Amino acid sequence: MCGIFGYIGVRKDAKDIVLNGLKALEYRGYDSWGVATIDQRISGKEIAIKKKVGKIGNATVSDLPESGMALGHTRWATHGGVSDINAHPHLDCSGKLAIIHNGIIENYDELKKEIIKSGHKLISETDTEVAIHMIEENYKKIGLLEAVRQAFNRFEGLNAIIVMDGLTQTFVAAKSGSPLVIGKGKDENFLASDAHAILPYTNRIYFIEDGEIVSVSSRKISVHSTKDGSQKEVKFNKVGWDINIADKGKFPYFMLKEIFEQPKVIEDIVNNNEKQIEQFSDLIKKSYGTYLIGSGTASYACLAGTYIFSRIAKKHINWAAASEFGYSADFLTPKSFVIALSQSGETIDVIDAVKKAKSHGVKIGALVNVLGSTLYRLSDYKLLLGAGVEKAVVSTKAFSAKLTYLILLASIIAGNKNKAKKELDKVIISLEEILSDAYLIKIKKLVDIIYKFRDIYVIGRGLSYPIALETALKIKEASYIHAEGFAAGELKHGVIALIENGIPCIAFLPNDETYGANLAGAMEMKARGGYIIGISYKPHEVFDYYLPVRDCGLSSIIPLVIVGQLLGYYLSIKRGLDPDKPRNLAKSVTVK
Ligand code: F6R
Repeated sequence: MCGIFGYIGVRKDAKDIVLNGLKALEYRGYDSWGVATIDQRISGKEIAIKKKVGKIGNATVSDLPESGMALGHTRWATHGGVSDINAHPHLDCSGKLAIIHNGIIENYDELKKEIIKSGHKLISETDTEVAIHMIEENYKKIGLLEAVRQAFNRFEGLNAIIVMDGLTQTFVAAKSGSPLVIGKGKDENFLASDAHAILPYTNRIYFIEDGEIVSVSSRKISVHSTKDGSQKEVKFNKVGWDINIADKGKFPYFMLKEIFEQPKVIEDIVNNNEKQIEQFSDLIKKSYGTYLIGSGTASYACLAGTYIFSRIAKKHINWAAASEFGYSADFLTPKSFVIALSQSGETIDVIDAVKKAKSHGVKIGALVNVLGSTLYRLSDYKLLLGAGVEKAVVSTKAFSAKLTYLILLASIIAGNKNKAKKELDKVIISLEEILSDAYLIKIKKLVDIIYKFRDIYVIGRGLSYPIALETALKIKEASYIHAEGFAAGELKHGVIALIENGIPCIAFLPNDETYGANLAGAMEMKARGGYIIGISYKPHEVFDYYLPVRDCGLSSIIPLVIVGQLLGYYLSIKRGLDPDKPRNLAKSVTVK
């Protein structure tokens, strides 16, 4: 959600570096973009800007002047509609200071009144523009760093900003919520909302903490406390990520590439980190109440976790959607253990829930994909998902990584690690079948039959219930078809009223104690005219369309959901959509 990229240094194509940086951040989701660069043709070092609604696509910034300093932003609208004017960067009245912003300034109304009273002219509807005029107000008296610091301290809400000053050739950035990192190069430095965007240039990274304000020029970086301006010692870490994994390779879309990466992700988890997984399972074993929290897809992994721990370890574990957790967290004690599941590690609902839990003295565990993310840093104990960069907005491989970890954690508690490993080996074989050309043809044929429908219903029971929810989410996000996942047992309590002739109904039927009852649900839908798509280890006459999935014991939930992911992907393609960038969605949801 909102991508930020800034460059200052010896190169003269700063604007192109920034545009490429924004492209690397496109996966975060946005509706408009903009780049500002210093116009050295003008004596006063004014700033030249290009801002546009829509995706960057093949756009260039060749119409902007060459210089060694530029700043860019991909905007996901909050304050003010999607328009060129509302896109960032925004300028002060003098045109010499530019700002980009991620977050929401909650007290913007009050600040706006003050600024207008002091004679500043606002041309957009954004809260961001108010911020740059507040900074301009004090800039001449107290300098850039202090002016940004004082203004930032007055913002309510969670925000990250970068201000570009052409006159002093300096960026000042501050953050209280959204992610922001500095990349340190030789005679050049970078700022971005995600380290991956910087890695093509340098791997020396500093993750700016909440409550820090930084001043960055081409040769100097200083980090200060936003509270009192005092300077802090900081250490740049060398990040060892492979930048090539962020390429699409032979695949047309990241979503398909990431679906195909899942066997390797699962294999890596099974074969590595044994010690760490054991230590983590010990914490669960010893806690007085473990709570799994996450948002969206991650929340369905949490729900699956409750079944996994009950079935394998006979242990009761709670779960909650992170956005709801805080409202029912009064029962937490220092003996509780809260485990947050998150791909990005930046989801604001998850971060808020974790902070709330911490305020009760609770220890935090994390299953998180992004090293150095806010969740990673906030947690006391962490297991890195190791799924590699997930670029498609629609999450796939992070989900199966979370399920794999949960299965292993529960199995270690139950003393059944080897059984779980054997099942997960079967999962790998099953995925070879599912990701084969012949299987994909089967899925595409099904898509040809169902892609024009407005609604799709998905049922599961027990462990396949969260899989039904996740499959429905994949279909919704990627193809914009309304898909509803629900517990098969709930069918008769309402949803069955919606089943009409020909409506696609997907039924997950793994080889477990739910098989018979799930089949009954499929039959009930069939009796009302539903077109039954059975995803199961064996065929049945009630299925109008059958997608086989090998029985891998309880771990069957992984291949089952991967069939659901493929359905979402191919429905999206058939409907002419871009599955990597669904409308209105962002990869990392950093505002409430
Ligand atoms: C669905 C999806 C979202 C995310 C959710 C949490 O495909 O991507 O539902 O799962 O926004 O994101 P993370 O895992 O980054 O906390």
